[in-house]
Amino acid sequence: MMGKIKMNNKTSIITSMGNLLLKNKYLFLEKFNLEVIMSRSLKLTLAVSAAFAASAMFSACNKQEVAQSKTQPAPVAESAPQQSKSVVVYFSQTGATKKLAQVFKDARNADEFELQLVKPLPSTYDSTIAEVRAERESKQWPALVNAKLDVDKYDTVFLGYPIMFGTFTTPIYTFLEANDLSGKVVVPFCTYGSGGRKASANELKTLEPKANVTLAYGISNKRINAEGGIETAKAEVAAFFGNLETGATEETLVGGFSEQRPLTAEDSAAFAEATKDYAYLNLKPLSVSSQVVAGMNYIFVCEMKAFGGPAEQANVRIFKPLPGRGETQLIGVEK
Ligand SMILES: Cc1cc2nc3c(=O)[nH]c(=O)nc-3n(C[C@H](O)[C@H](O)[C@H](O)COP(=O)(O)O)c2cc1C
Repeated sequence: MMGKIKMNNKTSIITSMGNLLLKNKYLFLEKFNLEVIMSRSLKLTLAVSAAFAASAMFSACNKQEVAQSKTQPAPVAESAPQQSKSVVVYFSQTGATKKLAQVFKDARNADEFELQLVKPLPSTYDSTIAEVRAERESKQWPALVNAKLDVDKYDTVFLGYPIMFGTFTTPIYTFLEANDLSGKVVVPFCTYGSGGRKASANELKTLEPKANVTLAYGISNKRINAEGGIETAKAEVAAFFGNLETGATEETLVGGFSEQRPLTAEDSAAFAEATKDYAYLNLKPLSVSSQVVAGMNYIFVCEMKAFGGPAEQANVRIFKPLPGRGETQLIGVEK
């Protein structure tokens, strides 16, 4: 098939959310409306969202490169080339992940490697859904102009992608097929409509057992595309690096939360406000835990019937800023 690469033995996971998405083509339309504006108060969520950043072993990505002097550049022939130890590899269809990739690149002075499709995705949402669905069903991953990276140059690969059908988008499979990431630190980062950060990192771990895949950072397209969204992402990514360097884990990051308890009226109101744009997930909160950091942070354990499908349990993270500091917002949904 033109423009396709046949997958080898690696398996992929199509989540039930993904399957359900296929039947509900309109439900992510809002995700395409990347200009959706949220409150300026997003900046105030930084400390909170740091708690949502994942972490793991990560000494290598702490190595900042020393910038060359711009005032007295050494002659190219006589200077040792600057050896970057990290690279940001990413795919982005509509620009949200590209923004986040820039944040990672700047934070670590990393090289940049944007994956480019031989045959670009369609420009309409319906066509994109159909195309990606076909790729997933056939496991024929899209050909890339630049699939092969000189991985030997790098200790650390920051791997960025939009969540599609509950996990990373299909060009990432092509990249994984073309490159041996054994022994590399792989730091996943993603943008999404409602969630998929943890699920995608878990799939990466499964597909790359010889790499050191850390836990992932993720941000919704609504938040990164909001006014001040880049600043939000910058601060969260800085906190994410801090967490990685201290060896925090998903478990330790939620250590400060209370035990799960029945919802109060105030909890219910916060949940309703944050999830008002996510009716398609059909979330029913069952219990909640909370932690006060720059506002109220919640983890709601919910029954979710995404797109009217079968009931699943999901954790819904929500942040409610201090009074007058902005809207209550959904941070992410994780199964
Ligand atoms: C085909 C398709 C499938 C998607 N599936 C999901 C999904 O399962 N979960 C989710 O939260 N967002 C999903 N999204 C939304 C994207 O993850 C989101 O818009 C992302 O920020 C796009 O990143 P980009 O601007 O870098 O392309 C999907 C989008 C498309 C086009």
